Amino acid sequence: MKVHWQNHTLSKVEADVLVMPIYLNEDLVKLFTSLDKNLSKAALALIKDVAHEDGFTGKTGQQLWLPTYDNLPFKKICLYGLGSNEDQSVYRKMGAQVARKLSSLNGAAKSKSGAGAKANSRRQVTFYLRSGKNLAIEKALESALEAFVLATYSFVKYKTQTAKDDSASQPFFTKWAVSFTGKDLTEAKFAQVTSRALAMADATNMARALIAEPPAYMTPSRLALEARRIAKDHDLDIKVMDQTQIEKLGMGSFLGVARGAKEPPKFIVLKYNKAKSKKTVALVGKGITFDSGGLSLKPAQSMEHMKYDMAGAAAVLGAMQVIGQLKPKVSVMAVIAATENMPGDNALHPGDVLVSMNGKTIEVNNTDAEGRLILADAICYALREGADEVIDIATLTGAVVTALGRVAAGIMGHDDLAQKVMESGKEHGEKFWQLPLFDEYKEGLKSDIADLKNAGSRGEAGSSSAGMFLKEFTESKPWVHLDIAGVGWIDRDKDELNKGGTGFGVRTLSQYVLNQ
Ligand code: BES
Ligand code: MN
Ligand code: ZN
Repeated sequence: MKVHWQNHTLSKVEADVLVMPIYLNEDLVKLFTSLDKNLSKAALALIKDVAHEDGFTGKTGQQLWLPTYDNLPFKKICLYGLGSNEDQSVYRKMGAQVARKLSSLNGAAKSKSGAGAKANSRRQVTFYLRSGKNLAIEKALESALEAFVLATYSFVKYKTQTAKDDSASQPFFTKWAVSFTGKDLTEAKFAQVTSRALAMADATNMARALIAEPPAYMTPSRLALEARRIAKDHDLDIKVMDQTQIEKLGMGSFLGVARGAKEPPKFIVLKYNKAKSKKTVALVGKGITFDSGGLSLKPAQSMEHMKYDMAGAAAVLGAMQVIGQLKPKVSVMAVIAATENMPGDNALHPGDVLVSMNGKTIEVNNTDAEGRLILADAICYALREGADEVIDIATLTGAVVTALGRVAAGIMGHDDLAQKVMESGKEHGEKFWQLPLFDEYKEGLKSDIADLKNAGSRGEAGSSSAGMFLKEFTESKPWVHLDIAGVGWIDRDKDELNKGGTGFGVRTLSQYVLNQ
């Protein structure tokens, strides 16, 4: 996907759709004539009238789509309300809503004069941006473009041709070309901002596609292949370890979970090495490619979407793709423990005791609390490999869905690091809410026969209890845990995200690393 900067004034903008953000109660004729005095006064007066009639005032999120009947150089105009205090979220909404509307439009491209016009039969949408009262044009561009690309995502791999012909499911960019225009931005700055926004949006869409794949396809082996592809394309080091190598490392906790599955487990490590980096950040992802619960089997309803139990791993892979493209200043290590959680005939029994990589013994009282078992060894590995700080991301507990719904992820661990991660998320509308790790939660994880048990009492602070379990493996290094069980999957479209796997975390994690 490419976007273009149109370096000319409005009357020269040849587009099928022009999108114009409007402040509350802004005078439309004044605005447009101030931008370009060559636009038809009559046409502008008409737009102002119709806008007035339709009650368009420019309040936040308001939209008005009007045809221009060839009286202006663009076929249609979309007026989009910014309200009086614009912020990044209104630009995100604008990008998303325009993308959704365009997907539903039928019609052919505006006929363009001159040679080569036929070659490009895609329709053209152009956004006009200006520096705002509250927000620099760069931020507006970044948010609008990011959301636009996210909202165009659709996963059509398993649709038959007939379904694909239905225009709504056709890949968006075969039909639309996108450009931006405006005054307060240089082409160099435009290139810099768009490359960042596109990297993040593309990587998020990539993560969403990994999640969307059926679990019989997206096995640990397949996930490892995808990781290899990302490493190769973006010049990252990669190491994929199989059963024997994992055994050698003593990852008894991870291997315990893998025992019930026919699919072999994979331990995936990617590295972005930066010379003279002041530290190494580890991103640790939960890669359960299907969570049946194991012998502590889930009921059918809870199992339905459990292919998304690798959403943490997908987020880490997405972030590594961004990092490989944008080359931040610090070194980053990605660690993914990938396995299914299945009730095969060799499966873990409730009551079994596992020995983790750092020697701690764990009594498994519930095989469905498998995420923390594989993360324990993955975190331990990251620290052995020299990580200075660890961020783990996982669809870890149903309790976080109960507490925060599908609105915010739970975040636990070191305050400073948590604060920085939350700020990184804020720039992209990824919300977090901090949950406590009080020492008392450790009581619930005491085992009669081992150092720890893996699940506390049902219905009691499930997310914090899981966080407390992980903390036992962090050796007091700076660490935060992101529980994305709620936000990793949505059942209906929400702002820039379509229903299904969300790719939550790709933007937060890569933004955090880019901020270093
Ligand atoms: N993968 C699940 C958590 C989950 C639940 C993710 C709902 C997405 C939506 C995790 O492995 C799990 O089963 N957790 C258990 C832990 C319990 C047994 C202590 C849970 O939350 O019920
Ligand atoms: Mn589980
Ligand atoms: Zn799980």
